[in-house]
Amino acid sequence: MSHARVALLISGGGSNMVALVRSMYGTHPARPVLVVSNRADAGGLQLAADLGVPTAVLDHRGFGGDRAAFEVALMDLIDAAQPDIVCLAGFMRILGPEFVAHYAGRLLNIHPSLLPKYRGLDTHARALAACEHEAGCTVHEVTAALDEGPILGQARVPVLPGDTPQTLGARVLAMEHQLYPAVLARFALGERDLVRLEAGDQT
Ligand code: GRF
Repeated sequence: MSHARVALLISGGGSNMVALVRSMYGTHPARPVLVVSNRADAGGLQLAADLGVPTAVLDHRGFGGDRAAFEVALMDLIDAAQPDIVCLAGFMRILGPEFVAHYAGRLLNIHPSLLPKYRGLDTHARALAACEHEAGCTVHEVTAALDEGPILGQARVPVLPGDTPQTLGARVLAMEHQLYPAVLARFALGERDLVRLEAGDQT
C-alpha cells in the first residue's frame, strides 16, 4: 500500500506535530516525510528528529521582510519532500495567497477555538473574557482568509470555574492532540466528513 506523504510545519514546542507523527504507523494511510520550522530554536525539531522524521529550518528573518520570497523558498523546501498533505501544527506565520493556492485541497491547520469564533491570537483569554461555557479547537482546510476554510473537525471542552487562559489552553491542547490525528487519518483517505470530539471521548 502506498502511503500519503505528510509534511508538517511548526514554530514551537511541536506537541501537535508529535501527536500527528506518532499516529502515523501501522495501518494508518499516511506517513510523515518532513518537519519544517521557521525557527531554529523550535523545541519540536529535536522531538521530530528523535522520532526519525527528517527536519529542516527556514528562518523567515533571513528574508528581510520579503514574505513572498520566504514563501517561495518554503514551497521549494516542502516540495522537495513530495508531500500529498501539508499540516500546519503551531506554525506561527500567516501564509499568503500563492502559498495557499499551491497547496489547495491538501493544506490543513489546527486552531485553538471553536471556529468561526475567535480567529487569530489569544483565543483562550478572549473566550474567558466573553464568559463562554465551552471552548475547543478546530481542524480546517486552509484558504486565503485567516482561520477560515472548510471545517473538518471540532473538539469541545467545558470552561470550568476559575479557569485561566493557561488552564483552559491545556485542556484544549489535550483535545488538539486527539482531534488532529483523527482528522488526518480520514483526510488521507479522502474523507472530508466532520469529526466531532467531546472532552469525555479522550482515551
Ligand atoms: C496550539 O495551541 C495550536 O492550536 C496553536 O499553537 C499551539 C501549538 O502548540 N496554533 P504545539 O507547538 O503543537 O505544541
